[in-house]
Formats: sequence, C-alpha cells, structure tokens
Amino acid sequence: MTESATNRTPQVPRKIRVGIVFGGRSGEHEVSLTSAQGIMKAIDRNKYDVVPIGITKEGRWIAGNDPMSSLKAGETASGNQAIQVPLELHRGAQDDSGEGGSVRLDSKTLDVIFPVLHGPHGEDGTVQGFLDLLGVPYVGAGVMASAVCMDKAIAKQVFLAHDLPILPYRVFLRRVWDKQPQQVVAECEATLDYPMFTKPANLGSSVGINKAHCREDLFAGLTEAALYDRKLIVEQGIEAREIEISVLGNDDPIASVPGEIIPSRSFYSYAAKYLDDASDLLIPAPISADQTGRVKHLAVQAYTTVDCAGMARVDFLMDKATDEIWLNEINTIPGFTPISMYPKLWEASGIGYTELIDRLFQLAIERHEDEGRSVTPFDVSKAT
Ligand SMILES: Nc1ncnc2c1ncn2[C@@H]1O[C@H](COP(=O)(O)OP(=O)(O)O)[C@@H](O)[C@H]1O
Ligand SMILES: [Mg+2]
Repeated sequence: MTESATNRTPQVPRKIRVGIVFGGRSGEHEVSLTSAQGIMKAIDRNKYDVVPIGITKEGRWIAGNDPMSSLKAGETASGNQAIQVPLELHRGAQDDSGEGGSVRLDSKTLDVIFPVLHGPHGEDGTVQGFLDLLGVPYVGAGVMASAVCMDKAIAKQVFLAHDLPILPYRVFLRRVWDKQPQQVVAECEATLDYPMFTKPANLGSSVGINKAHCREDLFAGLTEAALYDRKLIVEQGIEAREIEISVLGNDDPIASVPGEIIPSRSFYSYAAKYLDDASDLLIPAPISADQTGRVKHLAVQAYTTVDCAGMARVDFLMDKATDEIWLNEINTIPGFTPISMYPKLWEASGIGYTELIDRLFQLAIERHEDEGRSVTPFDVSKAT
C-alpha cells in the first residue's frame, strides 16, 4: 500500500469511554440503580462505550460483566474486601466467565464518569474528591459545591449572604440539644412560630424530617433529628407548594420550565417520595409568568452562588397563602430515571433524555479542560 493510500484510510473516531457509577451506601441505593439503568439504556452507543461500576451497600466497588445484576441480586461485601480504595475494581460475583483481572479506574481507562449516587458518600463531595485525585472528569458539581449543598446549615448561610430568600431558621449542635433542651426549645419558640420543621443538617430523602405543631412535637422532632446528625435545623414551616427547576451548565447555566409536586401526604416526606407512588408531577407548574420568571432567575442565582457545575435541581417552597417564593435547597445529583423531575423538566423545555446525557458528559469534559488551564505549581522566582 502506498503512503497516500494509507492516508486515505478513513479514521473511525474512538468512542468516549464513560464509567457509570451506581448503588452506594445511601438510603437511595435502589433509586440510584433505576437512574443508572435509565441512563445506560438511553445513552448514544455510537458515541459512548459504557463501563458500569457498582457500589454495594457496604461500600465495595465492583466492575466486570454485569455489576447491575450483582447489586440487584444483593451481592454483599465479604471479609476484608469491604470498603477498599477502588483503584482496581474487582469483577462482580455474577462474572462466571472464569476470567481473572480487574478494571482500572483512571483517566487512561475512562474518559469521563457519571456518579449516579445520592446522599452522603455520593452527592456530598467525597466521591467527587476521589475522582479529582484520579484525574477523571465527572458529571455534576465539584467537591465544594457538592459539600455545601449537602449541608443544609452551610447552604443557608451562603444563600443568606447572597440575599437569596430563605425561611427563618435556627441551627443547634447535638451537644447543646443534649445538655440544654429547654433552652433550645425556648429559643425556637421565641424566634419562630408553629408549625416548625425539624431536620438533620446532612441527609436527604426527607429522612429524619418532621413537622412540629406544638412543643411536644418539637421535642420529638429534635430528638429524632439528633439520631442522624450532630447539627440540627429548626425551620419556620409554611403551607407550601413545592416548585422545582432543573439547571444545566457550567459558567453560563440555563434553567428549565418549573415543575410542581403535589405530595401524597401533608408534606413531601420519605413515604410520599418513595413508598406511596402517588405524588403527582405537574409540568409546567401552574404558576404565573411573573412567578415563573422569578423562580428561574432565583434558580440560576442559587446555582451560580454555590458554584455548581453540570447539573442541579433547585427546589422552592411557595407559600400557599401569599404566593411568596422561598428557596429550599439544591440537589446536585437529582433523581435521574426517565420519569424523574430533573430530566422530565428538560424534556418539557426541549432537551430529550438522550441529548441531556450527552450534554452532561460534554459539560464534564469542558469543565475538566478548563480546570486544566490553571497553572498549579507555584513559581517561587515570580514571588513578589
Ligand atoms: N420550612 C418548611 N415549610 C414547609 N414544608 C417544608 C419546610 N421544610 C421542609 N418541608 C417539607 O419537607 C420536605 C423535605 O424537606 P427538605 O428540606 O427538602 O429535605 P430533603 O433534603 O430531605 O429533601 C420538603 O419537600 C417539604 O415538603
Ligand atoms: Mg428536598
């Protein structure tokens, strides 16, 4: 073959190798599996090669032929294999091919990772920090924004500093609650009205969250929240409509149409989220054009204030009596099944599920490249 003939040979572009990480130690393990299955089914296989990576409920990372089946079959970690640093991923129990070996988790093997994980040890910056150390681009917020959004007490301080509208609240350390419960309750009653919401600062899925209508409820609610966290939040409760918006992008994010959730219970509790299957989603939310404009604006402001990246769902509470809008929280890894609010809102805004996944991978790679532009070593000779 002549040299010119060689040059004419069409080059097939290499597919982008994506790791989809799912499962994990949080109470939302099963939601994560459903989201990851949706993503793996919809992803454009002409463009992406998919490497599924599962994390068992004990925290063991597995990869191989079919880690999804392994997790669904309830594979558990055994002995000293539990919670190891997953630099080399062991093949799943379902792998009976007899082949040995493992999958390396690094930037030579994977071009980008989608951590489809919720709650602590998934959405809180820990996995993001680990992926930073490996040098692999990943979908969604980085360490700092993930950690801030996971801690409701810190997130509120950041929102307050930027004049974003949040409901009045108090934060107490568990140590103070244990020693001086009467003073804690007195401070709440002096500054807030019933009903109040009691919450652990770091959790999600409404776990440990209760509505207190009276002093007795407040004692019970704080006692329960203290089971889950060393920081406790008491917040002014309102009769609220739940308005949510999807945000997409890095430095120049865009907001979807807003949606509304009609919970099956008196508030959007754990049972209403995961047990009842009866909460309704209204897309777009039946609110005025002015209100839509305001929540979209606030959603993008909140997102940029905490320096989110890739995606986040921004949740609001709208006072049923006054229509006033309050920022509730930012979820940096929202539910991502094809019928979840985050992708549904984008679908209603003109970005389908498969295209959304594609955009998220591109945003992850762009952000990684942008970070790579920063000079890291400090040149002492240039010090002034
Ligand atoms: N201040 C409040 N007033 C009225 N409802 C609230 C308030 N805070 C929380 N809720 C209700 O509790 C649910 C869960 O609270 P949230 O702070 O969103 O915690 P999580 O991170 O677990 O979703 C909300 O979706 C809403 O239904
Ligand atoms: Mg919430």
